[in-house]
Amino acid sequence: MDKIVIEGAASPLRGTVTVSGAKNAALPIICATILAPGRNVLTNVPRLGDVRTVVKLLAITGADVELRWPEVVLDTTELDNPVAPYELVKTMRAAILVLGPLVARFGRAKVSLPGGCAIGARPINLHLRALEAMGAQIAIRRGYVEVECERLQGAQIAFPVPTVGGTENVLMAATLAEGVTTISNAAQEPEIEDLAALLTSMGAKIEGAGTSVIHIEGVESLSPVTHRIIPDRIEAGTFMVAAAVTGGEITLQGVEPAHLTAVVERMREAGVEVTLGEGAITVASRGPLAPLELVTEAHPGFPTDMQAQFMVLALGAQGQSRITEAIFENRFMHVPELVRMGARIQIAGRTATIQGPSTLEGATVMATDLRASASLILAGLRARGTTEVLRVYHLDRGYENLVEKLNKMGARIRRVPSELY
Ligand code: UD1
Repeated sequence: MDKIVIEGAASPLRGTVTVSGAKNAALPIICATILAPGRNVLTNVPRLGDVRTVVKLLAITGADVELRWPEVVLDTTELDNPVAPYELVKTMRAAILVLGPLVARFGRAKVSLPGGCAIGARPINLHLRALEAMGAQIAIRRGYVEVECERLQGAQIAFPVPTVGGTENVLMAATLAEGVTTISNAAQEPEIEDLAALLTSMGAKIEGAGTSVIHIEGVESLSPVTHRIIPDRIEAGTFMVAAAVTGGEITLQGVEPAHLTAVVERMREAGVEVTLGEGAITVASRGPLAPLELVTEAHPGFPTDMQAQFMVLALGAQGQSRITEAIFENRFMHVPELVRMGARIQIAGRTATIQGPSTLEGATVMATDLRASASLILAGLRARGTTEVLRVYHLDRGYENLVEKLNKMGARIRRVPSELY
């Protein structure tokens, strides 16, 4: 397995970086092409491990796939196999997003249950309950969820908590259902708006995506389209923190500032200068950083996918910060690794107390999830000496050309292929 080596305490990051397409928009959108038989062309698709996994899932169902990064062409004219096997689902929980589209297109689907996950139990009970309310019959057999339904029926779906994947599965399934579906307490993430924009251009009738109540009026069929994926707000936020922790000044291009409101607010509270432009954000960190109090929330609140990175920001602050993880029950996997680098962090329940400013020293570290790995890279940029980050495949799942992009802005970071060490 490759590793990433960072020479820390390098000069502040400077320059510009172009943000890639959003992983979490690309995944459901690729699944949604199942609903529209024909040649679908997606642009601005990030070249990532998770995107390859979902493309493989589509190929298993029978889609013809052409990878011309950043363009992906999916011809879904002839699909014949509504199955998502364990070998792929176990590597990426978001594989469950094929469930709604497969049932809507085939009237049946067999999708492996995802099983455990490093950041918490992450059940899919809400996805299944919603499909049941739409008339589907669901059975769990030999580790697979098997769903059958001649044609899904519109229904009133009230989620007890806003679930991103659950909202996306129901949204996709409801486009071809008979009658009207209403999702209340829907997740409001920008990726859901992007999915709804795609479905609408395919011919779906959707109102309210991006708010907490979504109405979908089912139609008989959808048509293939060309669609551009929105920018990745989490990749953007990660670079913003990278600039701040190195005391640098960088400009992000190809970004949507409106998707980053909560992140921008918290950065400004920490004393980082953030200037918003048209498709651009400039981040400059000149003086000392102030401590933070933050709680992760569903969008438009502060995203759980930025929690680990902000912990590294808090390590550089003058004083004590508190970060509460309210979405996932086990998402502090980066903390023991940061502590090994000299961080002073204590966890009580779902709250981490971070004592800043911490002097970090390079170490060999590894993490068991994507954003935790990103936080270790950020810590490596700030630390004295050399940091080695192992288990690079987590980063490859979600960050396109991370090493190249950071290098271009002056970081001293390189990837070492496994055969060289
Ligand atoms: C998505 C994102 C992930 C992000 C998360 C929260 C993708 C591919 N992944 O994950 O990066 O961290 O949103 O913003 O878009 N829950 C249940 N039952 C369910 C479904 C969810 O109890 O059936 C709970 C989860 O355990 C969690 C909360 O609801 O506590 C939110 O999870 P959810 O929004 O569904 O996350 P994902 O869609 O898996």
